[in-house]
Amino acid sequence: QTILILNGPNLNLLGTREPAVYGHETLADVEALCREEAARHGLEVEFLQSNHEGTLVDALHAARGTHAGVVFNPGAYTHTSIALADAVSGIELPVIEVHISNVHAREAFRHHSFISPVARSIVIGAGTNGYRLGIAQLAHLLTEE
Ligand code: DQA
Repeated sequence: QTILILNGPNLNLLGTREPAVYGHETLADVEALCREEAARHGLEVEFLQSNHEGTLVDALHAARGTHAGVVFNPGAYTHTSIALADAVSGIELPVIEVHISNVHAREAFRHHSFISPVARSIVIGAGTNGYRLGIAQLAHLLTEE
């Protein structure tokens, strides 16, 4: 089984972008830890990042029928995107929403998520370890199904 790890806008800058908030690990480091964690659960990984909302919609659509689930950090689109929420609903795959930072301890505009009501599980404020937790949760759900 293959899972999709999908990252939204500005996450390509991870490691250099606001390290006090997001830490010093790069997106390549996150990809490596995701591959390691997924392997522990016998899962294959497709790892994607895009700064474009429509590309993220397309990636979610493409996961349907080919992937067992998605670990998704939608970045700032979390707080704005009905299109991404509709895509998550539409693909009928378990989607785990991940945020590196504790969005609830930050600006009020980060407190609302369009994705949370349609996500299967949510991991917030665990740093990049949140991706590991998200993958472990997905693996757990997949063995239950
Ligand atoms: C984020 C939180 C969002 O509010 C922000 O826009 C991001 C990253 C996180 O992982 O903490 O780009 O999703």
